[in-house]
Amino acid sequence: MSLPIEPFKIKAVEPIRWTTREQREKILAAAHFNMFAVAADDVIIDLLTDSGTNAMSARQWAALMEGDESYAGSRSYDRFRQSVQDIFSYEHVIPTHQGRAAERLLFRSLVQPSQIVPNNTHFDTTRANLQDFGGVCADLVIEEGRRPEIVHPFKGNMDIGRLDEILKREGTARIPFVMLTLTNNSGGGQPVSMENVRGVSEICRKHGVPLYFDACRFAENAYFIKIREQGYADKSPKEIARELFSYGDGCIVSAKKDAIANIGGIFCTNDPRVAERAREYLVLTEGFPTYGGLAGRDLEAIAVGLQEVVDEDYLRHRIEATADLANKVAGHGVPIVQPPGGHAVFLDARAFLPHIPVEQCPATTLASELYLEGGVRSVDIGSMTTGADPVLLVRLAIPRRVYTHSHLDYVAEVILKVWKRRDTVRGLRVIYQPAVLPTFGARFERVPAAAAAHA
Ligand code: F0G
Repeated sequence: MSLPIEPFKIKAVEPIRWTTREQREKILAAAHFNMFAVAADDVIIDLLTDSGTNAMSARQWAALMEGDESYAGSRSYDRFRQSVQDIFSYEHVIPTHQGRAAERLLFRSLVQPSQIVPNNTHFDTTRANLQDFGGVCADLVIEEGRRPEIVHPFKGNMDIGRLDEILKREGTARIPFVMLTLTNNSGGGQPVSMENVRGVSEICRKHGVPLYFDACRFAENAYFIKIREQGYADKSPKEIARELFSYGDGCIVSAKKDAIANIGGIFCTNDPRVAERAREYLVLTEGFPTYGGLAGRDLEAIAVGLQEVVDEDYLRHRIEATADLANKVAGHGVPIVQPPGGHAVFLDARAFLPHIPVEQCPATTLASELYLEGGVRSVDIGSMTTGADPVLLVRLAIPRRVYTHSHLDYVAEVILKVWKRRDTVRGLRVIYQPAVLPTFGARFERVPAAAAAHA
């Protein structure tokens, strides 16, 4: 079947500035091979993240003008709450400035030091914030979800047996709640099935612990359920999302993803005590409960974006465009996380560069080669698994409604050019690593040719 055309017309454009390979070589060295240190103007196609990089619609831009900037009781908050509840259905709706602020409200309200929070896979910021409150992360994604090459329709699923085991062993005194990340970003943007959500929810109910979703990419997850899970083909993405959230007690959301906004976060809960504690902390760190850390106009943009993201034509185009890029490179043997995820294509860096040992950072190396080759910015998403045999991924995350098929075809060409010359690529070594969220601030240098030859 042919690829769906972009289901939108473009009203405002931004120029892309071209750079030469020589310029990019210098830029890379000055950035110490860390893609976060490269200026956006020096990037041709920016696939660093799908977070906050969305193109808003004409309706969202129009809604900005409706923003009510009142400190308390803003009309924009009412519209925001209605739109959020229309999809998530939770009783208490709290705006925050972005997803990680919502994470902090959740952890601060529910986690005591040394308590464990199971998840399919905690995203970097979730992990770091949980640890900041003294919490312990347990990643319980199914075995298939840890193996890039294995094809499974719902690789984001949680291992329900292991969840039951850990709840039995540790008890509810040590496990305050369970999380499920939709889609599982760190594990390749892989969805969780409705059956798995139901199963996790039943185990949680059996043990009397609440279930919270990290629902940043809920619409993409809902669409995967629609096309892959029996019984959902005739349901709309919104209906699927509503059913899914009915199995939980609340959620955190980064509005920078599936609310198609440029900033914002949401914390929802059905528990009035949790909501009260969260609001107390919110006033301390974010702002009054009817605006969180946001302007009224941001609340309006999110309210509209949440309704646009569940549009089936939009989702079909999004998921198929990602899959098309993935298939174009996988068709030439490039090792990727299979099947392609929702928001990004993930390259398996160790399989791509097998001659580069783990200490020489194959994922950061591959990301820097993609930049050097064609000015494409991607990111080393960190290891999915830690320990002796880590899975190292390079993520090419696709901003929503920003790039056309022709841009993505260019990205495929760049990946394939690096693939052809992969044997000549030299690794990197770390020269500086910050203690918190090292991905953002680490610095690297190229391993000298002689050392690379002996690796
Ligand atoms: N949870 C998940 C699954 C995420 O992917 C992110 C952000 C967050 C929570 C935190 O949200 O950025 O609004 O504070 N992911 C971005 C990314 C940074 O590039 O994947 P935030």
